[in-house]
Amino acid sequence: MTMHYPEYTRQSSRQPSGQRPPPLALRALCERSKRSSVEAPMPATTIATLQALAADFAPRSYAPYSENRAACIALLSDGAFVPGVRVENASFPLLISATLNALTTALAEGRKDFVAFVSSRPITHVERDLIEPFLPGAWVEDNVAIRTERRLPEIADVLDAVHKFASLDHSPGRFTGHFADAPMNHSAGIAEARNAASSAWVPESDFPVGCILGSAERGYVNGVNVEHPDWNLGLCAERNAVGTAVTYGLDGATTMYLTCLKDPFGTPCGACRQVLVEFGRTLDLVMDRAGHPPEKSTPTMLLPDSFDGQTLAK
Ligand code: THU
Repeated sequence: MTMHYPEYTRQSSRQPSGQRPPPLALRALCERSKRSSVEAPMPATTIATLQALAADFAPRSYAPYSENRAACIALLSDGAFVPGVRVENASFPLLISATLNALTTALAEGRKDFVAFVSSRPITHVERDLIEPFLPGAWVEDNVAIRTERRLPEIADVLDAVHKFASLDHSPGRFTGHFADAPMNHSAGIAEARNAASSAWVPESDFPVGCILGSAERGYVNGVNVEHPDWNLGLCAERNAVGTAVTYGLDGATTMYLTCLKDPFGTPCGACRQVLVEFGRTLDLVMDRAGHPPEKSTPTMLLPDSFDGQTLAK
């Protein structure tokens, strides 16, 4: 199948002056995708760059049960990108797929101007369904889904974003590139969680949930609930934050501030409790609900005797 994106192809086939070549490690991939028989509606260099990024992120997956590591990169309209890795749970159906992780991380960061998803594995039918509302009528081939009716970012902008990201310190415990500063106190933490909740994607329920997760030492990431016409494909705010923390290597999280403004008795659902127990048993959970004073708990208090899948890990 050949799609047309003539204006963009014509412009971007010229190397914009001052554009740096892709990093050395990307060259082989670029060559491979140039030889592809499929003419994607995006320059081969851009796709290859994103494929290489996805391959770089895949090892960060949390996949103790399958050892199948995977990552997906969401590309945004200005060339910025948001990664997501596979995050497994002892309860297998609670898997956060790499694509769901990238999608929900971007939404929690307040971004929804998706133009492409590039995965380290072929895009499945479920993933197609998942991204369809966010990338309507996408061109999908192997591990790439691209929105064709929207102007795509310039290669130079994508490469810039990739180079900038690659230049950060990614050694364990050092990366802080996407983390917000820790709140000064509980009320500041709650204010941040409420602020996050304003990015919740809730067309089905109009029930926004927001949270921040992290530690004073490393900083915090956001989580928001993300809904889908197929309810099975959405994700709660708490699990969204866990997925983001794993992708960016935010280990040692100590605290989650969680806001659920429309329910005075709201607490993390059973699925979130299960995932929170596996991610951080003793996390301080500060719950802010519908004008009531915040309440504190921990994942193990909320889910005693949780299923830990001891015999499952490979
Ligand atoms: N929700 C959360 O985000 N966290 C929870 O722990 C409870 C439920 C979301 C999921 C869905 O978007 C909406 O709230 C209604 O279930």
